[in-house]
Amino acid sequence: MSHPIIFDTDPGVDDAQAIAIALRHPDIELLGLTTTYGNVDIETATHNGLLLCELAGRGDVPVAQGAAGPMVKPRHPAPAHIHGANGLGNIELPEVKGKKDARSAAQFIVDTVNERPGEVTLVAVGPVGNLAAALQLDPALTEKVKRVVIMGGSVREGGNVTPVAEANMFNDPHAAQRVLTAGWPLTLVGLDVTHRCVLTPAHMQRIEAGQGELGKVLAGSYAFYRDFYREFLGIDGCCPHDSCALAWLLRPELFTTAPGHLAVVTEGLAEGQTLFAPEGRGFIQERWSQTPLVEVCLEVDGEAVVEWIADTLS
Ligand code: RIB
Ligand code: CA
Repeated sequence: MSHPIIFDTDPGVDDAQAIAIALRHPDIELLGLTTTYGNVDIETATHNGLLLCELAGRGDVPVAQGAAGPMVKPRHPAPAHIHGANGLGNIELPEVKGKKDARSAAQFIVDTVNERPGEVTLVAVGPVGNLAAALQLDPALTEKVKRVVIMGGSVREGGNVTPVAEANMFNDPHAAQRVLTAGWPLTLVGLDVTHRCVLTPAHMQRIEAGQGELGKVLAGSYAFYRDFYREFLGIDGCCPHDSCALAWLLRPELFTTAPGHLAVVTEGLAEGQTLFAPEGRGFIQERWSQTPLVEVCLEVDGEAVVEWIADTLS
């Protein structure tokens, strides 16, 4: 089955790998990339999106630029120590030839979904301001998308940028609260599963060998990202967070999910934390269970997911 998707992204080393999958997988019809600040500033995100498409020989894929910062809070500096100042491990990059789409990311999402109502899946792997802006332009999008898949959040795992918050949720908690409670069919692929997946140097060698010019960029940026994982987390390999969102879309049988209600803390020490109330579970008050039902990934066969990533890109 072919999945028409819009991929909303802040590339980013792990984003780049996921973009490669979106460009290469025979069961994905990539309708466009929409970019957001996050791992890098917005111009760099758009540059990297265009570049990755061109390196894959897919300069035809539209790339629409989106949010330059969060909806409400001030923007945090980009994490150059994780992704490099250029978002791709500070490696030297070829020139970009193409141009971004004339529309904003939000407008691109609205136009594309309206052209194919009921068919398009939005896969978002950065701060979700573009999805929030698209909802503002067309609130009925909730009824017209096929599904929304978000890499972000954490239910039991704790955070990666604060003790409780995952980076994409923390970067724009107000947008996240809007998007996660909008009432569209939504699956959250968070740290509970992405931290169970470790893409090793051996996997990356296979990917490099299989991806030509694109492979060189994926492997070069991975080497920088790997240093971060080694220093800060003591593992030899990287969590392919953003590819996990696509793994869920194409190989859902590798994941265990649970239905429930999500909310995002927008202020204070816990800003960016995702709160999950499992369906049917009674709490002291009903307020945690009043947002629309969504689906949250809780467990995964991590080895099978990283094999799938390496196989897809080999
Ligand atoms: O927490 C992981 C997420 O933050 C991923 O999307 C990664 O690219 C970073 O932005
Ligand atoms: Ca990302």
